[in-house]
Amino acid sequence: MKKILVIQGGGRANGNTTQLVEHFIKGAEYAGHSVEKISLLKNEVKGCLGCNACRYGKPCIQKDAFNDIIPKIKGADCIAFASPLYFWTVSSRIKAFIERFYCIAEEDPAPPLGRYEKYPVKDCVLLMTAADNFFWTFQQAEAYYKFTLVNYIGFRDKGMLLAGGCGDTNGKAQIDKTKYLREAFEFGESMYKS
Ligand SMILES: Cc1cc2nc3c(=O)[nH]c(=O)nc-3n(C[C@H](O)[C@H](O)[C@H](O)COP(=O)(O)O)c2cc1C
Repeated sequence: MKKILVIQGGGRANGNTTQLVEHFIKGAEYAGHSVEKISLLKNEVKGCLGCNACRYGKPCIQKDAFNDIIPKIKGADCIAFASPLYFWTVSSRIKAFIERFYCIAEEDPAPPLGRYEKYPVKDCVLLMTAADNFFWTFQQAEAYYKFTLVNYIGFRDKGMLLAGGCGDTNGKAQIDKTKYLREAFEFGESMYKS
């Protein structure tokens, strides 16, 4: 049994992203994992200020939800990042959340080339929805996820579910007309099956 922390960086109430996340959670719970979801709409996390107080042994100076989320990050086996595609990448809320990982980095006496500190080692997944469904629709988001979370921070990629063709935000969510809710359940259910 694994502990999975889902960070949802926006999306409408009962919109495509919320439904995708709910089905992923149902699948993970069906497989026996424990899941906690945190919505960044309800728990505001601002971007890093670059003040570097954290580099001098101080907690982050920003008084927002991030400090309460730190123990949940450290206690999780897997962090699932969920977002609607906004202007071809993850939402600004997810980006701000990831910037704040700066304050949980630790000194690494021998970092690999191109990394300057070490981060808690976690599994991660990416769950996204979009209106379009072209071959390039998720390219920028996927590159950001792989470059930042996997290559730089060092998380272990457990997969991505990129749900294109879910309709735009001018009207009801369309994801129930696609294959992605079933795929999200299966993803959550199977991600730790060997
Ligand atoms: C500000 C904004 C930017 C968007 N940018 C894109 C985009 O770049 N590409 C795309 O395919 N859809 C884009 N969309 C559509 C959403 O990604 C899509 O409708 C998504 O499924 C909405 O998620 P929700 O139902 O959870 O709110 C955008 C929507 C908004 C509101």
